[in-house]
Amino acid sequence: MPRHYAIVPAAGSGARFGAEMPKQYLPLAGKPLIYHTLSALCRCERIDRVWVVLSPDDVWWRTHDWAPLGSKLETLFCGGETRAESVINGLAVAETAVAADDWVLVHDAARPCLSQVMLAALCDALADDPVGGLLAVPVADTLKRADAAQRAVATEPRDGLWQAQTPQMFRYGLLLQALTGHRGVTDEAGAIEAAGLKPRLVRGDTSNLKVTYPADLCLAELILQGKKR
Ligand code: C5P
Repeated sequence: MPRHYAIVPAAGSGARFGAEMPKQYLPLAGKPLIYHTLSALCRCERIDRVWVVLSPDDVWWRTHDWAPLGSKLETLFCGGETRAESVINGLAVAETAVAADDWVLVHDAARPCLSQVMLAALCDALADDPVGGLLAVPVADTLKRADAAQRAVATEPRDGLWQAQTPQMFRYGLLLQALTGHRGVTDEAGAIEAAGLKPRLVRGDTSNLKVTYPADLCLAELILQGKKR
């Protein structure tokens, strides 16, 4: 039976958020944001190990206590210039532990509200899939095409459009090969598509939001509080 592993690229600076520290360390419900992200993965019984990929210059990690997350968690200070590079570097370190057909779940550090139900749904849906896939939600809003003056010039059809989330789950060998060959992508599924394959879209939930702007942090806090009740 193939095993499941997780890689969390967390070497970004969070420039769009505009905070003094990388957004993954911002306080959220009494812990650093990334604590909740890692906790969701470490609690999942199917996942054997969780690698978090940090920047070699990271000075924040060691200022927090991660021991309560348990022994599944391993820290790698090998983040790259881009998200794809960070994932490739993490996969390279994981090589000694992982077989080519084992599953790797790549999950954004900045998605702290991932539920066990969504994780299980992803793993179940892809268990026998020849390609792999990702959590995603159909686009709900009407989409506008803007000109340079920020005026709407067209309404784009949203049929068949989905918003990609994470985790994105692919077999180790395929993922490493695809990412190495297509480094300009913004997510793992993009590399798989560029390799000519079609990742499966597993319907997720909008609560699995990515914290990008300050308002997202308030929303994430409400979602986490709601889960506790
Ligand atoms: O910037 P964005 O929110 O799209 O980043 C997605 C994820 O990729 C974040 O968890 C971020 O820390 C990570 N990342 C990384 N290495 C980079 C850039 C982003 O691990 N060089």
